[in-house]
Amino acid sequence: MNLLIFLTTLLTALVLGVKTASITKQQYSIPLYKHHFKAGLRRATEQLSNYHTSGLNDIAYYGPITIGKQQFQVMFDSGSPLLWVPAQNCSSGGCTGHTKFNQNVTAIASFNIQYVLGFSQGYLAEIDMSLAGLTVSKQRFGLSYNISSEFAAYPFDGILGLSPREYPNIGNLNPIKTLINQNTIDPYVSFHLSRYDDTNKGDQGTLTLGGIDNSKFTGSINYNNLTDSTEWWQVSIDNVMVAGKSTVQQRSAIIDTGTTVITAPRKDADEIHSIISGIYNPAYEMYTIPCTTVFNMSLVFGGILYQIDDRDIIIRQNGICLSGMIPDSTIGSAWVVGDVFLKNVYTVFNYANLSVGFAPSVKLQS
Ligand SMILES: *[C@@H]1O[C@H](CO)[C@@H](O)[C@H](O)[C@H]1NC(C)=O
Ligand SMILES: *[C@@H]1O[C@H](CO)[C@@H](O)[C@H](O)[C@H]1NC(C)=O
Ligand SMILES: *[C@@H]1O[C@H](CO)[C@@H](O)[C@H](O)[C@H]1NC(C)=O
Ligand SMILES: *[C@@H]1O[C@H](CO)[C@@H](O)[C@H](O)[C@H]1NC(C)=O
Ligand SMILES: *[C@@H]1O[C@H](CO)[C@@H](O)[C@H](O)[C@H]1NC(C)=O
Ligand SMILES: *[C@@H]1O[C@H](CO)[C@@H](O)[C@H](O)[C@H]1NC(C)=O
Repeated sequence: MNLLIFLTTLLTALVLGVKTASITKQQYSIPLYKHHFKAGLRRATEQLSNYHTSGLNDIAYYGPITIGKQQFQVMFDSGSPLLWVPAQNCSSGGCTGHTKFNQNVTAIASFNIQYVLGFSQGYLAEIDMSLAGLTVSKQRFGLSYNISSEFAAYPFDGILGLSPREYPNIGNLNPIKTLINQNTIDPYVSFHLSRYDDTNKGDQGTLTLGGIDNSKFTGSINYNNLTDSTEWWQVSIDNVMVAGKSTVQQRSAIIDTGTTVITAPRKDADEIHSIISGIYNPAYEMYTIPCTTVFNMSLVFGGILYQIDDRDIIIRQNGICLSGMIPDSTIGSAWVVGDVFLKNVYTVFNYANLSVGFAPSVKLQS
């Protein structure tokens, strides 16, 4: 994408190499508050910040996590399985301007994670963390010393991957799954993603750990079973409606909070844009559309239609209008459904029965 900053941090490969089994245990300094929660499981809220630039809003959503004694900002990414932050010895371009981990831990294994855009390479270690006031005991996480240069521009230091995936011999690299495994929270993570333009009327986004915030949606949440439970939060799209017309049907979609846009294979994207006079522009690797277009795209999941606001799917930039659906076949025929859609719904990632729930977001009064 030459014109705009988009994020698509969907995992394309994670290579783990076991290095050593010994872990230094003496540095855990955070007390285990878990014992105080006997009365019941806790629910906690993390306020998100909205990554925006002068050209584009709602690029990504991030918030604070305390790792050992230090605080980092991390992007919450349902499209990848690993939490990482910059290591002390990181000198690559992507570490510029970011907080680096400066505590004493022992390397357990190496890792190298490739996203659709960018990569991060380093080693795994283990330490206590806290997130939204909840303590995560002995969480494995990545310390990166080789981070691709895109990350220098981002307002967050690292990424917190939320996929349900665990790895043989390494285990779980997602601290929220550890909170669930250690019975601190119920097995849900729910996202309310706000538009930056709306935030004078409300919050920039909230992540609810272990629960569902009924004030953020209307109607009830409808759950969709995962079609591929091994790698991503991947569900079926029954139908795609554009400007009142039914277009492609029966597609597989990865629900990815770490992707700004919606991506689909070129063939699907061409079919959709032909309805609204969209023209593929190779210079932008995007479709330009007439600024008067009524796009009115809806995705049907589990028989229920969820409408996307034209403010999200139409990107207005320097007098031209671009589509928020971008052609990409990195993941074969699957679509990647990111924030352009997710701003319109409340999303529940259910780790207990591996399903993704949606309900229409509350609309703010304008
Ligand atoms: C950073 O430290 C790790 C762990 O000691 C080491 O494996 C890696 O090679 C170092 N990287 C750089 C760029 O110094
Ligand atoms: C880090 O841990 C190692 C191994 O336990 C120890 O030898 C070293 O002194 C520690 N360094 C600091 C700065 O605490
Ligand atoms: C950093 O990672 C990239 C991508 O995996 C690789 O091409 C490059 O050689 C690595 N650089 C160093 C210094 O390890
Ligand atoms: C989802 O999976 C459950 C358990 O396997 C099954 O009972 C249910 O029918 C499935 N729902 C749909 C809509 O396929
Ligand atoms: C948008 O599409 C939905 C679903 O097809 C339809 O119910 C609605 O009336 C349309 N709205 C506009 C403004 O065209
Ligand atoms: C998964 O859990 C949700 C919430 O408890 C429930 O509504 C849904 O029916 C469940 N789905 C399956 C497939 O069991």
